[in-house]
Amino acid sequence: MNNLREVVPGDLGSIMELEQYAPLPAWSPSSWLEESTKHHVVVADTQPIVAVISLGLVSGTAEVRRVVVLPEHRRQGWGRSLMEYAHLWAENSGATEIFLEVSTGNEAALGLYRAMGFHDVSLRRDYYGPGDDAVVMCLSLDDTREVS
Ligand SMILES: CC(C)(COP(=O)(O)OP(=O)(O)OC[C@H]1O[C@@H](n2cnc3c(N)ncnc32)[C@H](O)[C@@H]1OP(=O)(O)O)[C@@H](O)C(=O)NCCC(=O)NCCS
Repeated sequence: MNNLREVVPGDLGSIMELEQYAPLPAWSPSSWLEESTKHHVVVADTQPIVAVISLGLVSGTAEVRRVVVLPEHRRQGWGRSLMEYAHLWAENSGATEIFLEVSTGNEAALGLYRAMGFHDVSLRRDYYGPGDDAVVMCLSLDDTREVS
């Protein structure tokens, strides 16, 4: 796994550089600031920061809220490292499943999530705007515990 670390307040500028490459709607600096206090944000331990993930936890269910890798650093395993971290963090937090939403047109993210074992749960029509549907995906951690 690539080296990751928890976010610190001084990372906000680097995270906003990454945010340019995140799916719309864009998150503002104040959204990211709030995110890092209310949720669990982890970044690549690199200078500059090349990847970020935000994870949430509600009633035993973990959620991947945001994951972004700088375009020139993609296909180098950062996405997989962030998702492996999410898996471990969710298990250690007592979650039984991880949910996320992704646009049906986001081939890279769908490829990553399927490679990590996520399966489709439902479709939310026009979720991101007219004609831009979201697929809700889930990874059951009980299933992965049985396998390992
Ligand atoms: C989705 C994203 C995070 C993937 O990050 P990444 O660092 O390139 O992913 P990895 O290199 O770890 O790839 C792991 C696996 O995911 C799949 N994958 C990654 N990019 C893919 C692509 N463009 N097409 C199909 N599958 C892809 C592959 O199975 C890949 O394994 P492989 O390289 O051995 O074939 C990155 O493309 C990104 O930041 N996209 C913009 C932001 C975004 O859409 N975030 C998700 C919604 S919030």
